[in-house]
Amino acid sequence: MSSFSSLFRRKDISAILQNPPVDTAVHPGSTEEGALERNLTVRDLTALGIAAVIGAGIFSTIGNASHDGGPAVSLLFIFTAIACAFSALCYAQFAATIPISGSAYTYAYASFGELTAWIIGWALIMEYAVGNIVVAISWSDYFTGLMQGIGLEVPAYLSMGFQSAYQGYHNVLELMMAGRPLTEASPADMAGYQTWIAAPELTDSLRLVIDLPAFGITFLITCLVYVGIKESKNASNLLVLLKLIVVAIVIIVGVFYVNTGNWTPFAPNGVSGVLKGVSAVFFAYIGFDAISTTAEECKNPQRDLPRAMIYALIICTILYVIITLVLTGMVSYKELGVGDPLAFVFTKVGLPKLAGLVAVSAIFAMASVLLVFQIGQPRIWMSMSRDGLLPPVFARVHPRFRTPSFSTIVTGLFVGIPALLLNMDLVIDLTSIGTLFAFALVCGGILLIDPHGTSEARFKVPYLNGKFLVPLVVLVGGFLLLTYNGEQVAEFGRAVRGDSGYEGFRHYIPMLVFLGFCVYLSIASFRNRLSLLPVLGLLTNLYLMTQLGVSNWLLFFAWLVMGLGVYFGYGYKHSKLGMKKP
Ligand code: ALA
Repeated sequence: MSSFSSLFRRKDISAILQNPPVDTAVHPGSTEEGALERNLTVRDLTALGIAAVIGAGIFSTIGNASHDGGPAVSLLFIFTAIACAFSALCYAQFAATIPISGSAYTYAYASFGELTAWIIGWALIMEYAVGNIVVAISWSDYFTGLMQGIGLEVPAYLSMGFQSAYQGYHNVLELMMAGRPLTEASPADMAGYQTWIAAPELTDSLRLVIDLPAFGITFLITCLVYVGIKESKNASNLLVLLKLIVVAIVIIVGVFYVNTGNWTPFAPNGVSGVLKGVSAVFFAYIGFDAISTTAEECKNPQRDLPRAMIYALIICTILYVIITLVLTGMVSYKELGVGDPLAFVFTKVGLPKLAGLVAVSAIFAMASVLLVFQIGQPRIWMSMSRDGLLPPVFARVHPRFRTPSFSTIVTGLFVGIPALLLNMDLVIDLTSIGTLFAFALVCGGILLIDPHGTSEARFKVPYLNGKFLVPLVVLVGGFLLLTYNGEQVAEFGRAVRGDSGYEGFRHYIPMLVFLGFCVYLSIASFRNRLSLLPVLGLLTNLYLMTQLGVSNWLLFFAWLVMGLGVYFGYGYKHSKLGMKKP
């Protein structure tokens, strides 16, 4: 095999199933040396899905999205859910075909080959570990707020990321040096400045500013995940129940305070205002796929994983749409640009006790998201290590707890240390772009292994012939964009003509890539009768990616280049698949 074609060496699906990695035979109650324990049922898996999905997105980031987009953000939730549903169906088919830990990484190995599998595994670090940094920081915000509420003040320099304080301090300093009034500083910058000047000095230019609660919760959750999946499962089921009860209370009580007048105008800042929320709204859905990483711990993965993913997605979509309508009905969208919107609306309508209850439950809700992602990340690394793409220690299973011990600790550090230091905005966008990329590849993977829906898998994406439907959907989508988002389309036209210089053009590179894909997939579908739903999954995920801004694309690209360095430095040479073949 030439070195170039060896980059695309693929795992054979039947070989994966016949020779499961290490000795993880697919039967319930397996307890062989090196195998994980099979405990999870469809109910546990659905709960695990909901545990991963309902978290910082709905308790926190929905606030800014509603502020920018108004009540129409509920439609963005529906659109995003549809994109996720296409991806969920593709994930489900893969999970039914290859019931092995590793999620999209394993699926890509069987469809696209080793290099893409590595890239996707690397991108998934964005979803799981980087996503958890967001959740840990958000958890800390709610936690310190609650502590304040009961009179226990956590010093600001121990509950804020270094980056936020450092940036705030320098931004305010610049303002002062320019002789401008401090009222021009943003509240976030002012808070950062005040925290920085009150913090203990380490050196002349360095102060001690860390987000200790964010690190603390990551540490606690890592310990829980380390000692066992059964303990994690019980904790997760309990947290999900609590979370659903509180969400139900918010809806049931909130409905009585809805003033339908607040729903007009429905999209006060037009389609572009709604689309500003893409990252936050998509972030709110991230997690339903995380359950596919527990395939080796399910009693019946082929039947239960597809069902659980789809159940979790349906339940969360219904709740999100209702919650958005309730929130934007209770108070004007203009007031919702806060970090704790669900608690805030109840304070606004004069129910402070309920606001407190929501805040407490947010702490539990976010802890359960952390839990699921801290379970998922080590299992992906374990799969990559079993394949030889990471050092063997990443696949080490604890002899007593039967959990991937080393990978679990590394995940804890990978999340906990940046959570001490970083500011949240950047990490939200990176999580969303990495996850959308992984979802797009999963949809593309189904097109590769089963373009006409003929697979024998126990679950498969329903086949609809895309010959005419894909071009038609692309044309209708283009028409809708022209009709409802004419402003952005006109700006795009000007940028492509070069009217706004390189800066303006650069901004639209992701959109050009997307349009190229639309044309390519329309032609490919017409010629090859491709299955409609995976094509739509690919296109909707790519479209959402175009809305995340070129600077995020560049950062994500830099992350992928770093990953390629690791692959060529280690994985390529140690790949077990590579060693098997001449
Ligand atoms: N969907 C998860 C959350 O909103 C990541 O916290």
